[in-house]
Amino acid sequence: MNPAEQQYTHTAVAHANIAIAKYWGKRDEQLNLPLFDSVAFGVNDLCTQTTATWSDEATEDALYIDGWHVPLQRIERMQRMMDIIRTQKGWSKKCVLQSHNAFAHSSGLASSASGAAAAAYAMSCAAGLDLSPAELSVLARHGSGSAARSIHAGWTRWRAGSQADGSDSYAVQFASPDHWPLNVFVVQLSSARKPVSSTECMKQCELSPFWQTYCAEAFAAADIAQKAVTDRNFGALAAAAHHNAMMLHALIMSCPQPVCYFEPQTIAVVQKIFKMSTAIPVCCTIDAGPNVVVLCEDIACPFVKNEIMAIGVPFIQTTIGGGTKTAA
Ligand code: PMV
Repeated sequence: MNPAEQQYTHTAVAHANIAIAKYWGKRDEQLNLPLFDSVAFGVNDLCTQTTATWSDEATEDALYIDGWHVPLQRIERMQRMMDIIRTQKGWSKKCVLQSHNAFAHSSGLASSASGAAAAAYAMSCAAGLDLSPAELSVLARHGSGSAARSIHAGWTRWRAGSQADGSDSYAVQFASPDHWPLNVFVVQLSSARKPVSSTECMKQCELSPFWQTYCAEAFAAADIAQKAVTDRNFGALAAAAHHNAMMLHALIMSCPQPVCYFEPQTIAVVQKIFKMSTAIPVCCTIDAGPNVVVLCEDIACPFVKNEIMAIGVPFIQTTIGGGTKTAA
């Protein structure tokens, strides 16, 4: 690297977040504006570290994930964030991103969220911009909708907003990780790339006969989830999480070109969690992928861990935390 470019380099770490009231459906695809508010928690241990370098010498923007060069046509969303910064700075510099994941990417483990949040933070700091959390959340949203929430640690709510330009569509933290220190088990059943991207599947879902019903439920979902978290009411959280995840997957399976993200072991884990949740404080959710994320209170943790181990599936045990910051 040219020594003069040192000052245009910055390294950031961001974490995945998992939604209890999910983002599904866009009011503007170009700007990644959601139809509904969503509520999620940041996850420790699932993280992406990204170094951004703005360069006059590079001939094109680039993204390397774990050393692999990602084809230019697949970094269009990253380039939207780069373009916003270029416009703000009046630059024509190219941006090179070097990214490392602590988990398999595009496997429904919300790596698009941590990836875009780490990139947004790194490229804005590398450009010498001191963005507010709201501005960072808006920038990250352009990279991946759910990344808007990864800027903050703990429990976040991404407001859909009403402005056409998306300036009021960003996430805020409403409870810190200490507010309710739940245990998290990430059951990783597949690290394969998703058969259908979230964006493509969201569009398909609008053609489902259940779409209007889903929308009617999704409208209130964030309020219900936020209240459960604020009140530390596990029963309400479990009911909200299960209803939201099952509605989402029923919708996804009912598209004209149906998609089933579940693997056989997804069902095995979900059935076990549902059964346990009638007796102990445990619940689960599933993003657009086969992996299951389990939440439980301390009192249930040893039992839940034994039960997951008995199914014989790989898992990571972690805690609520997350957020995005400069790498140590
Ligand atoms: O941010 P995207 O485009 O990868 O969409 C994420 C959608 C879900 O993970 C399924 C739900 C959510 O709110 O994170």
